[in-house]
This record gives sequence, structure tokens and C-alpha cells, in this order.
Amino acid sequence: MSHIRGRFSKPADKLVARYTASLPFDRRLYRQDIRGSLAHARMLAKQGIITDKEAEAIAAGLLSIQKEIEQGKFPFKAELEDIHMAVESRLIEVAGEAGRKLHTARSRNDQVALDMRLFTREAIGDTVKGLRGLQRALIALAGANKKVVMPGYTHLQVAQPVLLAHHLLAYFEMLQRDIERFHDCLKRVDVMPLGSGALAGVAYDIDREFLAKELGFSRVSRNSLDAVSDRDFLLEYQAAAAIGMMHLSRLAEELVIWSSAEFDFVEIDDAYATGSSIMPQKKNPDVAELARGKTGRVYGHLTALLTTMKGLPLAYNRDMQEDKEGFFDTVDTLLATLEVMAGMVATLKVKAGNTLKAAERGYILATDIADYLVKKGEAFRTAHEIVGRLVSYAAAKGKALSGLDLSEYKKFSPRFAEDVRDITVASSLAVRDVTGGTAPGRVARALAAARRMAAKG
Ligand code: ARG
Repeated sequence: MSHIRGRFSKPADKLVARYTASLPFDRRLYRQDIRGSLAHARMLAKQGIITDKEAEAIAAGLLSIQKEIEQGKFPFKAELEDIHMAVESRLIEVAGEAGRKLHTARSRNDQVALDMRLFTREAIGDTVKGLRGLQRALIALAGANKKVVMPGYTHLQVAQPVLLAHHLLAYFEMLQRDIERFHDCLKRVDVMPLGSGALAGVAYDIDREFLAKELGFSRVSRNSLDAVSDRDFLLEYQAAAAIGMMHLSRLAEELVIWSSAEFDFVEIDDAYATGSSIMPQKKNPDVAELARGKTGRVYGHLTALLTTMKGLPLAYNRDMQEDKEGFFDTVDTLLATLEVMAGMVATLKVKAGNTLKAAERGYILATDIADYLVKKGEAFRTAHEIVGRLVSYAAAKGKALSGLDLSEYKKFSPRFAEDVRDITVASSLAVRDVTGGTAPGRVARALAAARRMAAKG
């Protein structure tokens, strides 16, 4: 870093250099860094701050550096603190004196803010694509199993029958909200910080609007101090990612439960399951477990950055360099989890016979029988009590409700008649014919609507 150590009498201690370096992880920002520098050099020339020839030499140098990095030939030097210094010092080597002018009217503080915004903008695009991919897999599974019935649960106790498609579409909705959260986050990422300088703005006649246009941003930041010290946009992405992972973790947990011998609702494809090193019969849902497990590290990164940012005085502080590793890992973890979950859902085999059998157990139609009494004139609270006693009576006899004689029903209420036998899993589904309900017609329409939504980018 010889070119920024004019003030010092000796080089930084080796340990200090290693401790303060971000190059091992921020080299990942090389494309964003070079893109920002290309736009900056073009702007400097347009404003007459450097000559066109100098800008051309800078641009040619930056493009050759990009090639070097992509071909693995770039000399990453450990003593160059970060990607910004690494690229600039190489530029001075390849472009000479012109390279020494690139950093005019710029600071690494607005530069790194720009790089992270460019990176996050791309990450949001990839994340939305990943979320859409999983939505499509859920829709395909729901569409292929339109008539499959399963028990719906509350407290993980059998509650009321639902269509499997209805259950899967619940996850579609969660992912839809995740997509909206990322789109909303993008609005605040979409702000161009260059021109803020180190903290106070720059002393040159620059054109920030031109930079914003060149770099595809909708607007420029309004306050230089804020622009170099704000990491809200990373926190927002990470908060949306944490919520998204929480959704994926719930889906993963259901697949773990459903694939157990006790439930036996689904079979996870061999390509998405693993074996045990000792128990030959085992087929473990490790992918789902890891999706569930990795949620913890994504939450951790959100908490870590919130804690890093807490109490920092304005403007830039070196603490903020700690934003990167956790952020990159959040993006990587979320994208990988979305992709692998989409593959697992797309290849899932549903055991419709087993889900139906499960839906016929556990006095699942008790609510429907209470509703039956209400239709015959009983108050709901009273009907609830009557059916509660009926269930306890049947349970004591070890019978299902359908196994009781009409005379037995009548002991609990004179309102029971032969038509109580018409209450079935199918009728239970059919009567829940409200917007958002599990009636087959409603679910078919919800599925069609989901298809239309998922067709969007
Ligand atoms: N590596 C630094 C970071 O990631 C870049 C900005 C450094 N600015 C400074 N004044 N040291 O935050």
C-alpha cells in the first residue's frame, strides 16, 4: 500500500496488515468495483477533470485487470488491504500516470458503499429468481396431486381435512411475501452514493446524475454522511433473508416429518436423501435438515450486523468492513437453500393412500358434526359440547365416529338423523367454500392464480 502511506515512517506491522485486510473476502466485489471505476473515470473525463486520453487509458487498464482476475492471473498481494486498493495499485502498474488520477473526487468510503449496493442489487435479482423457482416447484407438485387429501393439523394434532395442494399453496403465499419484501428492499438499495467522498462530499465539479444513469440507479443519495455510513440496505436484505429462511425451515421440517415411517406421507427422491454409515435401512432427509439448520447462521448474520452497526458514530468506521462476510454467506446460503429445496420438492413422491388414511383418523370430522347440529338449530357452543362428549364416548369404545350406530348418536342429541352419515372427508372439504378455503373449486382457482403470479419475473 505504498501509494497511501506517505504520512507514515514505516510499513504496517504484518499482523496488523493481516488483521485489517478485507481482500481475502472482498475480492468477490471485483466486478462491481471495476464497473464503478469505469463509470467514475468516464464522468471525470466528461467533466474535464481528467482528459479523454487518461480516461481511455484507465478504462483499458481496468478491463485488462478484470480479465486478469477472471483468468486467475491477477497478482493478489496480501499487503494490499482491500479490493479497491488491489485494483487501483494494479491500474497504476498497467496504466501508469493516468491510473494515479482515478481516485480523484472519490474515497474508498463512497466506493465501497457503491460496490455493496451494486452487489446487493444483483443478489436481489438472483434471490427473487430462486424464490420463483421454489414457487414453481410447489405449484407443479400441487398440480400433480390436485385431489390428494391430507389431515390438516393444529398443535401437530389432527384437526380438519385439507387438500395437499392447499397446504402447498400456503408456502407459495409465504414465498410471495418474501418476494415482495426483496422488491421493497430494492427501492432503498437503488440509490447511488458516489460523490459523497470520504464523508462531506467532494471538491470537484462532478456529475452525480450522470453516474447514477451510467450505473443504472434511479436516484442519488441526498446526504453524504449518511451515504457512506448507511448499511440499512444490507440489514434489510438480511432481515428478508432471515424471514425467507424461516419459511424454508418450516417447509423443511414438514418434509422431515412427512418422510418419517410414522407419517409416511411422502418419499424424498434418492438424489435428495442420504444414507447412514451404520444402519443400512436408513434414508435420511439431510437436505431438509440442513435447510432447517442453516437458518440459524442466517439469523446469526443479521444479529451480527445489527450489533456491529449499533452505536457507531457518523460517518464511516472501519467496523463496517465486518458487514461483508456475513452478508455474502447469507446470500450464498439462501440461494443454495432455495435451489436445493426446489429440486427436492419437484421430485417428491406423494403417498396419496396414506395421507387419505391419515385424514380419516383422529375424529377429524368432529367440527363438521358440530356444524351439522348448528344447521339443525343447535347453538355452536352447545353443539361443540355434545360432539366433545360423543368423541369421548367413541374413544372409550375404541371406535371411529363413523362406527357408531345412529341410536348411539341420538343418546347425545335428538337432532341427529340418518343424514349425519353424509358427513365425509369429501363433504368436509367441499363445504369450506370461502375465499382462501380448502374446497376443491377454491383450491383449483388459487392454483391457477398462483401459476399466473409465478409466471412473472
Ligand atoms: N475495506 C473497507 C471496507 O470494507 C473499504 C473502505 C475503507 N475505508 C477506509 N477509510 N479505510 O469497509
